[in-house]
Amino acid sequence: MKRHLLLAQKKNTKRGIYKVTTVEFLTLLNGLSIKIWIENDQLRYRALKGIMTSDIKQEFVERKTEILTFLKQAKDIIGDNRLVADVIPQKNIMSKSQVECQKPSQIELWPSVAEFFVYDEFLYYALTNDQRRNHSYKLAINQLVKDKVVVDIGTGKDAILARFCAEANAQKIYAIEMSEKSYNLAKACINNLGLSDKITLILGDATKVNIPEMADVCVSEIVGPIGGVEGAAVILNNARRFLKKDGVMIPTRSITKIASVCLPDEFLHNPGFTEIPAYYTHKIFEQVGYPFDLRLCLKNFPKSSIISTSSIFEDLNFTDAIDIEYSLEVNLTILKDSRLDGFLVWLNLHTIEGEVIDVIEHEYCWLPVYFPVFCPGIQASEGDKIEAICSGLLCDNNLNPDYKIEGSMIRKTGEKINFKYSSYHYRREFKQNHFYELLFSQNVLDFSINNSVTTAMT
Ligand SMILES: C[S@@+](CC[C@H](N)C(=O)[O-])C[C@H]1O[C@@H](n2cnc3c(N)ncnc32)[C@H](O)[C@@H]1O
Repeated sequence: MKRHLLLAQKKNTKRGIYKVTTVEFLTLLNGLSIKIWIENDQLRYRALKGIMTSDIKQEFVERKTEILTFLKQAKDIIGDNRLVADVIPQKNIMSKSQVECQKPSQIELWPSVAEFFVYDEFLYYALTNDQRRNHSYKLAINQLVKDKVVVDIGTGKDAILARFCAEANAQKIYAIEMSEKSYNLAKACINNLGLSDKITLILGDATKVNIPEMADVCVSEIVGPIGGVEGAAVILNNARRFLKKDGVMIPTRSITKIASVCLPDEFLHNPGFTEIPAYYTHKIFEQVGYPFDLRLCLKNFPKSSIISTSSIFEDLNFTDAIDIEYSLEVNLTILKDSRLDGFLVWLNLHTIEGEVIDVIEHEYCWLPVYFPVFCPGIQASEGDKIEAICSGLLCDNNLNPDYKIEGSMIRKTGEKINFKYSSYHYRREFKQNHFYELLFSQNVLDFSINNSVTTAMT
């Protein structure tokens, strides 16, 4: 118990102590089975006898306002007064044994959130607490930043990569963030940690601001579920101006792969968003100003659904200037007799040579993307081939790419079935294929033409 409390109040760091975040504190309370909720605008708790010691109670009272704010924000997101246990992202609070006891999970559809400015405490929490991702970044950071000047592009609310650089004894870190809210939170975090001498935060768009000296290392996590969706090519090409001649980039390369898939019938017959993905879809539509066929990601994707060899869909080599627009030939061979529903496109991020984050090997904060090209699916047989050209062209904001794949499925009999599919960043195209028609046929998201949301999420 005492150990939990000490963890809850402060974490020891090399440079002092820092107060844990609201989510971390609530996660710890949840670990002690202390239930918290709001009733008539009051914060309530229920705990087993003896659990709520006077020390925990004092910490709880001191944090009352921040917990209330957090729960109200959560309520805005999922629309009711749930217990904290239900609103903190589950994967981060389950113990290993709980995870192992779980049944295979159902596929969940998510919008590709990272390419829009919908970052909030939940999304940052998923990033900051993605231990596998962080481990891969730390491997690169620990090898490259000691005694070096670093620039961190898009540091986020927790300035997590900048902090890893500080832990790895970088000489100085300039951390740039364009969201004012995230910048302010990062500033408070850095101050609490006593790192403000080491890390200088800069508010602004990394393509427009300057730093006071040239850097040896540029670290960033500005890649999405298809590496380039967040505008990495444009932003990191521009960031080369911060680097000395022999400066290096972390990550070093983003390779996005593609393969053919056959998805479970129960998923394809009734595609839909659960509450939280529906909330972010709603937020994206509000931000863009209209509903559209947004890029879709799959959570709990079963690797057994891949039915072909894989090929490269996009290749961004950050060690040199990147081609902003590209086209690549894709050749896939069907490996088993199966229905072909579309393509899976997924990130392989190389933080440093030899260290690859493959997002379908484990659960990461990135999810693979699904292109629903054939709806209904078409029959494919072992040995059939897919020959296509995929391309990335910047959309009209000159930052985020629109992607296209166009080609043919060539059966062993010689029969050719042509296909063409576009995955736009935010083009005003809605229900343009049967899959999106099914997805948006439910009355979950309802938008009026004049940009305002007319129906609350159900
Ligand atoms: C995926 S988050 C990564 C946050 C953090 N670096 C991490 O690894 O957890 C990307 C962050 O970059 C910021 N960002 C995106 N484009 C930017 C730009 N052009 N200049 C500065 N910050 C940017 C976003 O606001 C967001 O906080």
